Amino acid sequence: MPGIVVDRGLEGVNVGETVLSNVEGEVGRLTFRGYDIDDLAPKATYEEVVALMLHGTLPTAAELAALEAKLSSLRALPDATLALLRALPREAWPMDVLRTAVSSLSLPLPHKPSGVHASDVDAALSLVAKTTTIVAAWDRLRQGLEPIAPHPTLGTAANFLYMKTGKEPTAEYAKALDQYYVLLVDHGYNASTFSARVTASTNADLYCAITAALATLTGELHGGAPSQVQDSLVDVGSADKAEQWVRDLIKRKGRLMGMGHREYKVRDPRAKHLEETAKRLNNGGGSYAIARALEDAWNKVIAEEKPQARIFANVDFYTAPALGALGIPSDEYTCMFACSRMAGWCAHVLEQYANNRLIRPQVTYTGPEVHPFEPIAERGREPAGSARS
Ligand code: CMC
Repeated sequence: MPGIVVDRGLEGVNVGETVLSNVEGEVGRLTFRGYDIDDLAPKATYEEVVALMLHGTLPTAAELAALEAKLSSLRALPDATLALLRALPREAWPMDVLRTAVSSLSLPLPHKPSGVHASDVDAALSLVAKTTTIVAAWDRLRQGLEPIAPHPTLGTAANFLYMKTGKEPTAEYAKALDQYYVLLVDHGYNASTFSARVTASTNADLYCAITAALATLTGELHGGAPSQVQDSLVDVGSADKAEQWVRDLIKRKGRLMGMGHREYKVRDPRAKHLEETAKRLNNGGGSYAIARALEDAWNKVIAEEKPQARIFANVDFYTAPALGALGIPSDEYTCMFACSRMAGWCAHVLEQYANNRLIRPQVTYTGPEVHPFEPIAERGREPAGSARS
């Protein structure tokens, strides 16, 4: 239609405001409420960043202790959710299970049709606390093992590894997963966060908004990519085969998962930290070495074949060798993303409620002109004068 600009994918369209995180795609900087992830990743725990997201400031030591105690008290799953998990088919994809189980958390709560139904910071903390418990419980149930009750004193990341194996993780493993959770907690109006905010803007409750976010995260253009990065690493097989592998991929116009980003036109700032973790946990070899060679090969081949393209490693690329080294199966990588992002999603939903306006964009209609209704007996008939060939 003349005069109407259609922004497919809303690329470059500004649809709101947030104080929670700032993605500076040209320079490759990510900040949470003004704190650079380069400072937070080595220095802050996930719980400190949860407090930053949901309470607005980094906590004092006393506030952090209170938050940790609160999360600990909220980790156990309601009976209805545990029973649901036990009833699910063991071959179910962990993200489908997580979406279903998180949705079930609101079942015991009374519904109030006012948009305020269980939609506050306490409900957000409950979701943050229970998400890792669900993922760990499903990890065991699908192997025919009993879920392990949350440890009373371990933090969110260490608790996940504990509930998965029954053993307290080493400090190195706990820190590695904790840092991953810190890095992924929020990322502007990414697709899943936007989805949560759209849902919240109708005054639907927090659980509905989070269920929508979980569904949106699953796709490979968003949170579903790291499992496929792992597939690529296996397919490449060894570092010396990386360059030819990339050339073949480019020739058949394939996509390398873990590369490229709508916002970042340089390397994703989270990739640096995850690469360091992956390198350390793999002692510089294993899947890390293949990933490193693959990234080098990618940068070389893209510079030759598509010199204008700015397609660099994103957060998901080194997620695969990092989480793989922690013993997390690749079909749970997206769940790990969700465990972290839960705090960011909740903070966005609460921010949306605090200054809500229904999100309801326009669309350009490109279908047929208005035309007469055909009674059912007349449908499928050739118009007079026409003949099928
Ligand atoms: N491999 C090969 N080509 C690519 C890739 C890639 N990973 N990413 C972009 N391109 C090419 C694409 O083929 C297109 O080329 P052409 O103009 O010749 O057709 C051009 O770059 C632009 O691609 P686009 O899909 O229009 O760009 P976008 O802004 O929508 O891309 C993206 C963002 C993340 C969807 C895309 O880079 C991609 O598909 N990456 C692989 C999947 C992935 O890693 N997803 C995780 C994203 S980061 C985590 C998160 O935020 O959830």
